[in-house]
Amino acid sequence: MESLELVSTGGALPKRSVHNDDLAKIMDTSDEWIFTRTGIHSRYFCGGEETVTSLATEAARQAMERAGVTADEIGCLVTATCSGDYATPAVSCLVQSALGLADDIPVTDVNAACTGFIYAAEVARGFLQESEKQYALVIGAEQISRYLDMTDRSTAVLFGDGAGAAIFRRTPGSLYHHVLGAMGGLEINVPGAASGMPEKVSMDGKAVFRFATKAMRRGIGVLMEKSEKAFDEIDWFVCHQANSRIIDYVVHKMKAPEEKFFEDMERFGNTSGASVPIALNDMNEQHLLSAGQTLVLVGFGSGLTWGGLMLKCAPDFRAE
Ligand code: UT7
Repeated sequence: MESLELVSTGGALPKRSVHNDDLAKIMDTSDEWIFTRTGIHSRYFCGGEETVTSLATEAARQAMERAGVTADEIGCLVTATCSGDYATPAVSCLVQSALGLADDIPVTDVNAACTGFIYAAEVARGFLQESEKQYALVIGAEQISRYLDMTDRSTAVLFGDGAGAAIFRRTPGSLYHHVLGAMGGLEINVPGAASGMPEKVSMDGKAVFRFATKAMRRGIGVLMEKSEKAFDEIDWFVCHQANSRIIDYVVHKMKAPEEKFFEDMERFGNTSGASVPIALNDMNEQHLLSAGQTLVLVGFGSGLTWGGLMLKCAPDFRAE
């Protein structure tokens, strides 16, 4: 199997930013409680015409423009989402149509919740092996706000909406390692329509916290071992942005360099499958990413799923 390199990123957020103080007006909570327990101050919620597809399309268009890659050059499109606008068609198919991508390339969605972008990149890598084209468009896009129970303060304060996108290029011989896993369980779930239960997020927060810290350490550990790299050889660890306390705990336990763990949940909350590509795009826009850097991406979430990637920013990485 060939490697992937990151060529560019894009992102899109709903217009409406919702601060913790706004939530405190409709439920018994406070900015102090939420920020202390999670590192989150605000998040974005979709409104009006905004959908998973519209955000995904905007993020993808930006990533393609920055990469200088045309619709004809894209060899596959995979979107990580667990909140797509339709049960079918896939968000990816609607984005394909909006962007005018070729009609003879694989286009599909992946549901691995907050690990979705890691899974989606691996699915895209598989698709590219059989393609004459070099580029994969991989998106993470969510509208979790649709599933929030605003009477449950323990979950409603955590999540937000948004989309991030990446252009990857198939590059033989480039540094690339992956790890993926899952352990079936209902610790975080949104019941489907057929269950007869309300389609709202429910979660055993403490169990998920324990799982998350183990899964992150396992994912990072496997990647460091496979690559035989030391922490000082990694430029950035870009983890699922669920909770700053989860990242702090992992950094402490692994004696990892805290300054290399990017965090932006303060402004976006937990955007599930979109959080890793939104973080990559945020880093790009803050000029933190550059050609030749080594990145470790880590995800964990409902499923329970977990996984990680180690890869390079391409020599011609298209910074913002
Ligand atoms: O993508 C993965 C997504 N999932 C996660 O990241 C979740 C991981 N888990 C967590 O981050 C934490 O478990 C939470 C942030 C969800 C909760 O933190 P906690 O320290 O485990 O709090 P807790 O559930 O033990 O609740 C402590 C208290 C309770 O009150 P009492 O029973 O001690 O009186 C809760 O009712 O805090 C109360 N509480 C709140 N208070 C104010 C729960 N939610 C809130 C809230 N505002 N939003």
